[in-house]
Amino acid sequence: MIELYWKNATSQVIGPDHGITPGELSGLGDRMAAAQRAVDGQVRQGKLGYTTLPARRDYRDGVAALVAKLRPWCGDLVVLGIGGSALGNIALQTALNPITYNLQSDASRGGPRLFVLDNVDPTLLKDTLSLLSRRLNKTVFNVISKSGETAETASQFMIIRELLRDRLGNEFSKHIVATTDAEKGTLNKIARQDGYEMLIVPGDVGGRFSVLSQVGLFSAAMCGIDIDALLAGAAAMADRCTAADWTSNPACMLAAVQFLAYTTKGKPMHVMMPYSNRLYLLADWYRQLWAESLGKAVHRNGQPAFVGPTPIKALGTTDQHSQVQLYREGPNDKLVIFVEVEKHPEEVRIPEVFAEAPGLAYLAKQKMSKLLNAEKIATEYALAKSQRPSVTIRWPAITPENVGAFIYLYEYTTSLMGELLDIDAYDQPAVELGKQATFALMGRQGFEEVAKEMRPFIKPDKKYLL
Ligand code: PA5
Repeated sequence: MIELYWKNATSQVIGPDHGITPGELSGLGDRMAAAQRAVDGQVRQGKLGYTTLPARRDYRDGVAALVAKLRPWCGDLVVLGIGGSALGNIALQTALNPITYNLQSDASRGGPRLFVLDNVDPTLLKDTLSLLSRRLNKTVFNVISKSGETAETASQFMIIRELLRDRLGNEFSKHIVATTDAEKGTLNKIARQDGYEMLIVPGDVGGRFSVLSQVGLFSAAMCGIDIDALLAGAAAMADRCTAADWTSNPACMLAAVQFLAYTTKGKPMHVMMPYSNRLYLLADWYRQLWAESLGKAVHRNGQPAFVGPTPIKALGTTDQHSQVQLYREGPNDKLVIFVEVEKHPEEVRIPEVFAEAPGLAYLAKQKMSKLLNAEKIATEYALAKSQRPSVTIRWPAITPENVGAFIYLYEYTTSLMGELLDIDAYDQPAVELGKQATFALMGRQGFEEVAKEMRPFIKPDKKYLL
């Protein structure tokens, strides 16, 4: 079971200027209770689709049936998607499969290699396709787009479809799985016309909350991840997140610490720092969840808000040698969220050599995981000594259950944060504006007015060009 440890964010450890005092915490009680009631109410009214995902046997069974059909012949799986249609897939794969997964032989992997193309960098696409060129007859492309029209994903899909048609003729459609809205949208229409296998992005689940839907489950199950355990872990965390006493509810406490750090302690930067390479890209997933959900210009009554803590990712120990100098001695404007693993998936013992060198000898016979976790405590201590708050999310081990629990914990915490900040945590108007501006620049019909407004941005003013 993953646990939240928050003592190092309190005034008891780092003083009242930067640490949360007992009074501030109890003062939040009514507001937190209201946030809990509001989120619970939305769950009961069926408004928060993501909360139903751990129990959706139909989605899980649909994925399992498709995996049974495709996995026996699929050597490479390529996800085409971006944002919420890619970051969860990447996080699940890196957390739960070996770091060298794609480099292993077909036999030792047991499932396809996985490539997630979440950018329209032509070099990324070209390099990947030239790697796969001789294996296209064993490749499955999973195009994921809730809207079905995101330019990045659409352009990749158009290129891949043509390539497959050209190389595989009538068989091409067997190599595409479309994950999109069940009923509407351009991708849905094309998928039906071309006869692709289809999976669903539920209409009531936003992109960044969709990793536990068929969006994330398919690539995970194809690559051998135990999706039942993943969902079971999320379900167990869902239970813990309904605890009425908010001080023993991990989502409420996490929201309380992050909210108070942000609003009363001058900590607008929230750094997630896993001490595990496997968990590093969960911090990328968190960045999107937090940024798109909480970075909002208006409150729900339309009044200006301009709120949202800035989520940052860092990797321990790597970033101790890059970022921690700033975190400890720069502006005291950060809350660090450590992610710590008690038992790492692999262990390495340091050999007993260089006994004559005291600068190295102390490391002899020690476990590398002990060194990694000691460095985490060292950073925590160094930060606390200069009144920098931190919390730790402790994982006993990296298992699908704990990944599912972590995902659900952060999703539910995001909902509570949305209530506490009084903003709509489920829209993303700035992302939509960017999408529309891209349509305009690329000449899509109906976006001429936006294109007109953008003219000064298209042609640089030479006066400012050096
Ligand atoms: O969370 C979100 O809503 C966004 O990040 C989307 O996932 C992203 O823009 C991709 O959208 P779509 O799945 O419609 O292609």
